[in-house]
Amino acid sequence: MTGSEYIQQISQLQQAVKKDAALSAAELQQKYLGSNGAFTLLAKQITEIDPSDRKLAGRPLNELKNMLAEAITAACNHTTTDTWIDLSLPGEKPAVGHVHPISQAMAEITNIFTSIGFTRVRYPEVDWDWYVFESLNMPPDHPARDEWETFFVDHKPDKKKGQMVLTTHTSNGQVREMERLGKPPIRMINIARCYRRQQDVTHTQMFHQFEGLVVDKGITIQHLKGTLDYFAEQFYGPGTKSRIRPFHFQFTEPSFEVDFSCHLCAGKGCRFCKSGWHEVGGCGMVHPNVLKAGGLNPDVYTGFAFGWGIERTYTLKEGLAIDDIRLLYSGDLQFLEQF
Ligand code: PHE
Repeated sequence: MTGSEYIQQISQLQQAVKKDAALSAAELQQKYLGSNGAFTLLAKQITEIDPSDRKLAGRPLNELKNMLAEAITAACNHTTTDTWIDLSLPGEKPAVGHVHPISQAMAEITNIFTSIGFTRVRYPEVDWDWYVFESLNMPPDHPARDEWETFFVDHKPDKKKGQMVLTTHTSNGQVREMERLGKPPIRMINIARCYRRQQDVTHTQMFHQFEGLVVDKGITIQHLKGTLDYFAEQFYGPGTKSRIRPFHFQFTEPSFEVDFSCHLCAGKGCRFCKSGWHEVGGCGMVHPNVLKAGGLNPDVYTGFAFGWGIERTYTLKEGLAIDDIRLLYSGDLQFLEQF
């Protein structure tokens, strides 16, 4: 082989190395530098050329060697960044959500009442006037209806059941439950959305209520009071007391407002509660007219009912200082993540 032929082979190999940029370091190593590698063989052949040409060939051969070294280093870096994993790095935790506080409260309330034999039911949240008002001893045009700031639905009224409304309270479940079961014993806990035309720091237009209804022979106010005391201790913690004060509802007689003792001052009176008590909702003995509307004989059966808002009940819990219940529905994660 002449010197110039040899140099030509060197430059051919240089071109080949350039084209092989996509090969891995191991492949390059084997193809060019292995015992049968193209560079290894060519380097050996230098002894075959005229000694006076060897000097000339030495330089490009050296360049080819450096070029190969660079190509192998580049291939190493290339493969490492793609596949190399540092197992000692701390992992990135995926964001985990949780159940909305009101859903948590609903589950808790359901649990408290089903443990003492109540059955959780759900009734329509858009319902006929009959179930929301009239069957509850509130005839059309009765002034007591004004208290429930009602949304009316633009829908053809039913001849018997009247207009359609967004349910203003869960009491619409009372006569529906009597109809469903046909006869006592009734132990219902009805939890649903309610709607009223009012919105401020303590009211949202959509809110939740839970309603208890118990009907059987010989049910008295003592059963009602015992149930309220049981709920107070279970939901707010041991030592919480309930109190009932005379009030008026069309669908209960007698009727009461329900208070729970303040957990901060144990009923002594503080800045938070002022009187030692928090008012939460209403209750009473089911009115004979309501039993009749549900097809039950008020001379045989008596019952009690209670009902109030979940948002308010929940925000009175120990350690929750929520001064604007609208926040519960703001979708603000910084707020919701606290619960
Ligand atoms: N439905 C009443 C309200 O929304 C509460 C209530 C329920 C009162 C059951 C008496 C009996 O204010």
